Amino acid sequence: MIASRLIAHRGASLLAPENTLGAMTKTHEIGTPWVEIDVNRLGDGTLVMFHDDQLGRLTSARGRLCDQRWEDVKALDIGSHFSADYSGERIATLSQALDHIQTLGLGLNLEIKVYPEFTPEQIVFDTIKVLDTQWRDTDKLLISSFNSEVLNLLHHWRPDWQCGHLWERIPNDWAEIAEELNLVSVHCDHRYLTLEQVRQIRASGLDLYCYTVNEPERAAHLLQLGVDGIITDDPLLLGASR
Ligand code: G3P
Ligand code: MG
Repeated sequence: MIASRLIAHRGASLLAPENTLGAMTKTHEIGTPWVEIDVNRLGDGTLVMFHDDQLGRLTSARGRLCDQRWEDVKALDIGSHFSADYSGERIATLSQALDHIQTLGLGLNLEIKVYPEFTPEQIVFDTIKVLDTQWRDTDKLLISSFNSEVLNLLHHWRPDWQCGHLWERIPNDWAEIAEELNLVSVHCDHRYLTLEQVRQIRASGLDLYCYTVNEPERAAHLLQLGVDGIITDDPLLLGASR
C-alpha cells in the first residue's frame, strides 16, 4: 500500500475547514498519516489549495477563481464558514501547503483539479515546478486527478512519480488506462464500486482508494473487502486514526 488506510479528505474537513493549513494541523494532531488536498489555479497563475472554481461557498467574497489574482484573495477568511475558531485561516498557496505538510511529516495525496477555465498544461507544469522545488520524499506523494491528460503529462514529464486515476464510476477499460499511464492506484466513489472491481483491482497489484466515506460501518466494510484506503472527512470514524 502506498498511502494509508485512512486519508484525511481536504484535511479532515468534518473536523476543520477544508483545504486549510489548520486542517493539515488537525490531521496531524489526530494521528492520521496522510492528507488529501486539491490544487487549483487563479487567473494570475498562482496555484492554491482550494476545491471549487468559485469563491462563494467558502469565503464571504464572490467570483470565479480564474478572475482572481493572489493579491485579491490572500486576505480572504476561509475558516469562518466552518467555525469562528478558524476565522484566522487564509487561502494557502500550494507552496505554503507543501511546506506545512512536510513540516508535519504527513504523506500527501495531491489532487490536481482542472476546470474549463484553464488547461491541464497550465496547472501541471507549474505544479511540477513547485513540487520539484519543495517536495523531498516522493514515496510520500501520490498525485491523483479526474483528468486523464493531467496524468498523461505527469507520466511523460515525471515518470517516477506515483499517480492514480480518480473516477466516479470506474470505466470498463481501467486496466488499459492504468497500464498506458503507468498508474499505481485507482481512486473511486465508493457508492459505485462493485465487488468484482475490488477483486480485479486487487489482483492487478494497483492500490484502490475510495472517496468520500464518512460512515463507520461502510468504511469498515470496504476495508474488510480489500480496499486499501478510505478518503474520509472524518478520520476518527473508526475510533482510531490509523
Ligand atoms: O480525491 C478524492 C476526492 O477529493 C475527489 O473529489 O470533489 O472531493 O475533490 P473532490
Ligand atoms: Mg479532492
